[in-house]
Amino acid sequence: MANINELKPYIDEIVIQDGIKKLADRLNDIYKDEEVCMVCVLKGAVMFAVDLAKNLKMPLDMQFIRLSSYGSNQTSSGKVNAVDIKLPDLNGKNVLIVEDIIDTGHTAKFLMDFINYNFHAKSLKFCSLLDKKVRREVDIDADFYCFEVEDKFLVGYGLDLDDMCRNLTGIYYL
Ligand code: IMP
Ligand code: MG
Repeated sequence: MANINELKPYIDEIVIQDGIKKLADRLNDIYKDEEVCMVCVLKGAVMFAVDLAKNLKMPLDMQFIRLSSYGSNQTSSGKVNAVDIKLPDLNGKNVLIVEDIIDTGHTAKFLMDFINYNFHAKSLKFCSLLDKKVRREVDIDADFYCFEVEDKFLVGYGLDLDDMCRNLTGIYYL
């Protein structure tokens, strides 16, 4: 189990919040007054989705789905498990997927394919707080991300190790 005293600071709370505000400004500019359906990928993206939503000005529908790909390991299994993927009718909607981190890219690809297959959204964009580009196994990129990160296992601000550490306001590495 991670000992909080052994965690090394990686991204400070102030830097995270500033990055989120800048992203929100961009999204406010892009969508203007158009309604957006945010799809938050639980559990990791919960903190990011909430803080981002507080800074968005358009009419916002917040939906939550739950996927898992890590199990209790520190490396992505590559297999995406759709724990709960019930969504409303997204036909004709501006859909914005909100993730904590893109790592191998399997989760992002699975979700984009799932929504494209089941709905004709007006627009579909993928937004991630963090992007671990060096680990990509699938050809996919976030439409928006706040920070590119190195190949380290990160915890805090929604990111977990065995469901712990999600409540930390900053991001740390082990
Ligand atoms: P991917 O399918 O490999 O891109 O993995 C995406 C998911 O793995 C993310 O939604 C995270 O929940 C989890 N993940 C990836 N990297 C980390 C990490 O460094 N710390 C904690 N969770 C991670
Ligand atoms: Mg996640």
